[in-house]
Amino acid sequence: MCGIVGYLGLKEAYPILINGLRRLEYRGYDSAGVALINGGINLYKTKGKVSELEAFVVDKNTKGTVGIAHTRWATHGEPNEINAHPHFSESEKLALIHNGIIENYNVIKEKLIKSGVKFTSHTDTEVLIQFIEFIQKAEKVDLVKATQLALSQVVGAYAIVIVSRDEPDMMIAARNGSPLVIGIGKDEFHIASDASPIIEYTRDVVYLDDEEIAIIKRNEKLQIKTLKDQQKTPFVEKLELDLCALEKEGYEHFMLKEIFEQPKSIRDSIRGRLNIERDTIAMAGIIDFEQRFLNARRIIFTAAGTSWHAALVGEYLIEELARISVEVEYASEFRYRNPIIDERDVVIAISQSGETADTLAAMRLAKSKGALIYSICNVVGSSIARLSDAGSFTHAGPEIGVASTKAFTAQVTVLTLIALLLAQKKGTISKSKFNQLINELDTIPSKVEETLKVSEQVREMAKIFTYTRNFLYLGRGYNFPVALEGALKLKEISYIHAEGYPAAEMKHGPIALIDKKMPVVVIAPVSGIYDKVVSNIQEIKARKGKVIAIVSKGDKIVSALSDYVIEIPHTDEVLSPLLSVIPLQLLSYYIAVMRDCEIDQPRNLAKSVTVE
Ligand code: M6R
Repeated sequence: MCGIVGYLGLKEAYPILINGLRRLEYRGYDSAGVALINGGINLYKTKGKVSELEAFVVDKNTKGTVGIAHTRWATHGEPNEINAHPHFSESEKLALIHNGIIENYNVIKEKLIKSGVKFTSHTDTEVLIQFIEFIQKAEKVDLVKATQLALSQVVGAYAIVIVSRDEPDMMIAARNGSPLVIGIGKDEFHIASDASPIIEYTRDVVYLDDEEIAIIKRNEKLQIKTLKDQQKTPFVEKLELDLCALEKEGYEHFMLKEIFEQPKSIRDSIRGRLNIERDTIAMAGIIDFEQRFLNARRIIFTAAGTSWHAALVGEYLIEELARISVEVEYASEFRYRNPIIDERDVVIAISQSGETADTLAAMRLAKSKGALIYSICNVVGSSIARLSDAGSFTHAGPEIGVASTKAFTAQVTVLTLIALLLAQKKGTISKSKFNQLINELDTIPSKVEETLKVSEQVREMAKIFTYTRNFLYLGRGYNFPVALEGALKLKEISYIHAEGYPAAEMKHGPIALIDKKMPVVVIAPVSGIYDKVVSNIQEIKARKGKVIAIVSKGDKIVSALSDYVIEIPHTDEVLSPLLSVIPLQLLSYYIAVMRDCEIDQPRNLAKSVTVE
């Protein structure tokens, strides 16, 4: 949450910073600000989105070749202009941007207030910059030392960048727990929360590690030190990111573009791994730790939101195919409940962003107890990818819409490959079943393409339900997690209350909600429990509920019972979530469009949840 960007070079900083903020706006969008060094520090901030900052700044002095900028997702202090970043120190000689939370800010603030420091905002961030200036004066040390001393006393997560009026050709950046990338161009440096604002200027980047501080000076090489002043050699990596992937490319919203990219993102997640001719699956991360996986007492998935739903699909896959016991944990619960874990366990963290704070904390906990830490992650260089012992990337490409779509299907694809590989190695799957499933998996990208043809039909259907206030989503087996995912999509982008349930659980409570106004989305493709789902639909119809059914092509029984029917191609039940989730993504998208909602940046949300 929060996007930070900095520039020091020969070009005008302002356009580069605004461009960077637009790229990072998915991380938070309740206020924005910029500080530019030009003799003094010109600092401008506004409530609302980056476009509002641009409008505000239009007649202001935006000159300068050094600057920092920020787009905020509020944690401490309401989203308004005063609490927006950058924050000044009391003398206004220093300005700071911050992503993260300073947990002990109150203790530090009280101490500073007693020493006469005056505060203007309600943020933890202002406390940090005031603290740095206070130390600088009290200890008579330079800015680098003051930053090191202050950060050594801070509890919490941060990625920060500081500029100073007295040292106009310098920026200081530091991180602990929140992401920070430094781009090294010709005569210029870029800093950002992720690589997307940097890619059009340079592909050479350095990812800062926790408790490291970067000293960036004009005409000098990048210097990295630890908080304890130990010198580090910067490790320069090459970015492999396609600039087009960061644009809407003709689609009205990123979410729609990303839904339609799924044939490609699934294909990319399979490519180089699945070899149909040889009946093999190549996944180096699994093979490197083959014995740990095959002898694992349990596999524990830990994740949040949509990634947690993918983990649930993973549980069905791995238990059924590889016969290894699996548990699925919300990272936010797991980290605080003193779980029993040891070196016999394998913990798999799933995350699109690779920066989710709770997932990272759950991984650290499991690592400290000796478990093998594996990750399924979409962002190369992210904190989760770097913390893992091994992992598999999802190759979905950048996902920018806050509602996760292509990341989910890419995660499920990778989980399917892992389950099949483990099953083959363990001998828990017959050769013929393995062959059948890998051949079927290979056809999934084209079946997703076919599924996407329901888009127009779903758009028409969305008109009927635009003003509906509640939805129920039901599924069983592999499609129970899909029901949860469909409900989450609807909630987050159209603000309609929706609940996902295992279909048979309905009669233990939610059935009381059903009347003629209640639409119930039932995911009912061909499966071993199709007949049971039919009975569940009959229970809904007996209470006059409106059934929207997702069925396999040519279905007769469920279709006859349902009010609305969306057909998807036939596939093996095991792979069905990869198809059945698509109409649900489209339904939530079109309902949100008709309700005039902010599709890519829904209220109160941020793409990457880097605070707990
Ligand atoms: O980046 P992650 O996959 O770790 O993010 C987890 C959740 O925050 C994320 O899936 C969230 O629920 C999405 N907005 C869902 O669409």
